[in-house]
Amino acid sequence: MKIINTIAQLKSIVHDTKGEGKSIGLVPTMGYLHEGHLALATKARGENDLVVMSIFVNPTQFGPNEDFESYPRNLERDAQLAESVGVDVIFAPSVDEMYPEDGGISIRAGRQSEILCGASRPGHFDGVLQVVAKLFHIAEPKRVYFGQKDAQQVAIIQTLVRDFNFPLEIKTLPIVREADGLAKSSRNVYLTEQERAVVPAIFEGLILAKEEFILHGNATAAIELASKHITDKTGGVIDYLELLSYPDLKAVTDTTNDFLLATAVYIGKTRLIDNIIFSTK
Ligand code: PAJ
Repeated sequence: MKIINTIAQLKSIVHDTKGEGKSIGLVPTMGYLHEGHLALATKARGENDLVVMSIFVNPTQFGPNEDFESYPRNLERDAQLAESVGVDVIFAPSVDEMYPEDGGISIRAGRQSEILCGASRPGHFDGVLQVVAKLFHIAEPKRVYFGQKDAQQVAIIQTLVRDFNFPLEIKTLPIVREADGLAKSSRNVYLTEQERAVVPAIFEGLILAKEEFILHGNATAAIELASKHITDKTGGVIDYLELLSYPDLKAVTDTTNDFLLATAVYIGKTRLIDNIIFSTK
């Protein structure tokens, strides 16, 4: 496995790989890898000739009061994990390598970014789109792998791919969870022991709401049930808990096929997200 830091190095590998008629699978990450990331890489390994994983804590998707500085980083550990699942190339650029100057051109995410995480993290999805658009151009992947953990992110990136005609396929994989249901996240390391003990109630709450909605079709009652469960059990503060159509992220109607039930909860200073996608048909 190679670890490279420059765009020129990756472009050269991409040039040679494509010259041989081989396919490239890209797994974009911010590192501090866990089984969620590794599931994406494993899937990519099975479907492509060359697997590139990017590890880049992207400053443009963090707000001024967010955790860019403290976001966990450990490239040595990540490299071992990535190698163990067959990643061929880790692309770990510096911030200067990706963003040589301020005041450049950016991308603005559309309607799908105005709700859920986009409402409480202004500019977040613009930053995500900026970095993934760059990665798509640099790595020229045939397939790109994302987790359903960030359901809104995948939905918005799918729109980017459609609207900007990127010649690639987006592959989405289910959420990987701890044994007690907590969605794996690099940010789980922020939790204290007491916090860690209560956070499985977030997923429990979502399941309660899903069951309630499937039984009675009442979105408000379902959301109230989940909110109460999560607040009572975790003592956390709910940022949002919403039921929307998926992937268009609109209000639920009679004709909605797939539903997204998504939440973000502040547990102390840590903001955790989770969701369930389901159909009632
Ligand atoms: P990051 O949070 O590191 O996540 C990288 C990828 O792993 C994303 O597609 C995310 O949805 C997926 N992932 C995270 N936790 C998961 C879990 N428990 N189960 C399944 N998949 C999981 O998302 C980002 O980085 C960034 O926004 C990025 C797309 C790299 C752009 O900077």
